[in-house]
Formats: sequence, structure tokens, C-alpha cells
Amino acid sequence: MNQLAVNGGSPVRTKPYPKWPAARANEYRRLLGILKMDDWSTLNQEVNNLGEMFALYTGAKYALPVSSGTVGLEVILRALNIGRGDEVIVPIYTFVASVSSILYTGATPVFADVLYGTHLLDPESFEKNITPRTKAVLAVHIGGRPCDMDAICEIAKRHNILVIEDSAQAHGASWKGKKTGTLGIAGSFSFQASKNLSCGEGGMITTNDEALFRQMWSIREYGRDSRSDIWYEHMNLGTNAGMAPWQAVVLQEQMKDVDILFEKRTKSAKILTEALREFPFIELNDEDERVTGNAYHLFMFKYNKDAFYGVTREELIGLLSGEGIGCLASGYSQPITEMDIVNDETFRKVTGSDRTYQGVDIPVGKVIAYEKGMWLSQAALLDEESDVLAFPAALRKLAENKDEVLEYVKRRRDHE
Ligand SMILES: Cc1ncc(COP(=O)(O)O)c(C=O)c1O
Repeated sequence: MNQLAVNGGSPVRTKPYPKWPAARANEYRRLLGILKMDDWSTLNQEVNNLGEMFALYTGAKYALPVSSGTVGLEVILRALNIGRGDEVIVPIYTFVASVSSILYTGATPVFADVLYGTHLLDPESFEKNITPRTKAVLAVHIGGRPCDMDAICEIAKRHNILVIEDSAQAHGASWKGKKTGTLGIAGSFSFQASKNLSCGEGGMITTNDEALFRQMWSIREYGRDSRSDIWYEHMNLGTNAGMAPWQAVVLQEQMKDVDILFEKRTKSAKILTEALREFPFIELNDEDERVTGNAYHLFMFKYNKDAFYGVTREELIGLLSGEGIGCLASGYSQPITEMDIVNDETFRKVTGSDRTYQGVDIPVGKVIAYEKGMWLSQAALLDEESDVLAFPAALRKLAENKDEVLEYVKRRRDHE
């Protein structure tokens, strides 16, 4: 009799994953409150209140709500006067917005490789890519785990380069006890629907620098001066990047649970880490005691198909999906250096650069993107302990049914 669900057996897991994002009664009440107000603008006090709550949460002196994490990065870069002719170093293994935000300012992205053990910016590769045009580095805390901020900040200081944190996935994460968003000159967070803290779409930028905060505020508000009462006076080239008050009140409510959910994900990640050690085809990321809080937006690991009968990542996902294991992905599967956004005419037009990215030295990023990188998304970590263990149970079932695995793989490949 067939055991594997893809061959007609019973799946390991039948329960749905926890709903994400999820609202409770308070969000409805708060939303109605805003609808009844006269002020629906981004200058509504509730937007400021959210900024204050988030500043307290991260320990940053200032936090400014914006319309998205992407726009947050753009506002930071523009407030720091980074643009055409400047270079910004960014890790190759990241979401496209880390790079498109640089391009939107007219600056040129320069790609550094990532570390095999963490999938995060490799400080050595960062240093190797510095040129006299380098103005900033984007420390992307991918998956919710902080980068090696000691090494990155030390190199940046030596070369007089600004450190900007792309903390889109790292709400509440900390490095040696300090929260992300406070470790560089400024940080940007995302509240897009999948994120650990969400209002559907939205973002937040943080800084400890008062002058930078004022400049970011001004750019967010069409170039207005935060200290001026004259509505049609515009001191800067700004844009409209504000958050609406409905987003702000939803986030205020969601923030009430942020620490509890952070702890829950941490606990589940620990359980998974222990349980996954038995599989020779799964490589867990390195641990580092300087990471005092990993937000686990993504539980990242590597899958080695050579240790599992040559079954590809997509085939593995197919087998596991049959067993009811969801929230699983092979992640960023195309290095950004190969995307049109850094190779087409628009790229040349916005940056004025004739740089090409074909020969860029990113071997580790390529292995992670094309071959080995995988992740479980955060909603899977909000499960009950026994449900978190369904993933390793399904892997065990596959490992114990080699013939059936190969039968499925053959069938799938014959259909391709
Ligand atoms: C690493 C990273 N940077 C930036 C962003 C952009 O955030 P948003 O989707 O809120 O624009 C995201 C998220 O989507 C992200 O994952």
C-alpha cells in the first residue's frame, strides 16, 4: 500500500496553518473610530501615536510612519542626499525592493555576496566592493536575523560609509541587545501583509538623528518644513509617502501582541532546529550568540539534493505539500544581478551608469538562490508545538519511503 500522500496515502498534516494576518475585535472598533473622525490624513494624531509607540518598541529616538518599506528606504536614501553618481552596497540575497529603492534615487547598486552560514551580507565582500563613490551600505536583516553589525559598522566607519538597515523583515530582532533599526544611521521596516507586524501595506523609518528625522519627515510630506505653519512652503524635493490613520490604528492594536508572537516564533524555531538535525540533507544556519533576537520572519535553511537522491527543491516542495506541509518556499531564486532592472535601458537612464553585472563575484548567493536556499514562513511558527513538528515528521516519512519518492519524481519529470 502506498504511504506517501502524493501516491494516495494519508497526509501527515491536515490542519490549516494559523491565519495571517489576523484581526481581533479591537481593530474593527478602532477603524470605525477613524471613519467617524474629520481628519483622515497622515497628519492625524493616531499616525504620530504609532510612531511614538514604535520608537519606544525599538529604542530609536525617532520613528516615522510611511506608506511602505520600499518607500521607507527611498525616503532614507534621499534624506541622506544619496542619488545619481553615488554607489550603495547591497547584499545579493534579498528582496528586489532593497535594490529598486536604490535605483529610484538614481544611485547605483553594487552587489556584495552573502555568508553561506547565515544568508546575510558578507562583511569581507562588502569591504571588497567599496570604491570612492560608495556612500552607504544596506545591511539587510533577511529572514528577520540581524546581520553581523559589529563587522559591518566597523568597516563602514573606517571607510566613512553610512549604514542603513533594511529591517523590513526584522521587527523586534536584536544584535547584542540592541534592536534593529537603531544600529545604523537609519532603518526601514515593512508592514506589508505577510510581515510579522502588518496592516496590509505600510512602513516605518527609524533614526536617532534629529536632523535626519526632520529631513525624512520633510521628504515624506512633499518637502514641507515640520516647523513651519505655511502649508504651501516647500523647502525640499519631497514626495507623498505618508501612512493613513486606518493603517496606524490597526498597527497600534497589532503591536499589543508583538512580543508574545515574537516569543512564540522563537520557541517554535528552537523546536524545529533540534528536530531537523537528524536529516543529512538539511543544513541549518549557523548560530551566533550576538544575535539576541531573531524575528524569524523566515525560518531559513539549506537543502542539499545530493544527499536526498537528487530530488530538486521544487520536487521536495511538491512531496511535502502532498503531506499537508505549507508555508514552504525555495525563496529568492533569481539573483538580482540577472534581473532586467539592473540590465535594461531604464537602469541606464535613471542611474546614468554603464555598469554591467554579469561578472559580479557572488558565488555563495548563487548557490543559495539557485540550489539550496529554502524557508518556512513565519505563520508556520505560530502553530502549536505538535503541529510545528509535522514538518520534520513529513521529512522523516519521505526519507523512509525512498522508492515512492523516486516514483513521484519520475512521474513528475515524465510530465515536464
Ligand atoms: C528585505 C525587504 N526589503 C524591503 C521590502 C519592502 O517592503 P514593502 O513591501 O513594505 O514595500 C521587503 C518586503 O516586502 C523586504 O522583504
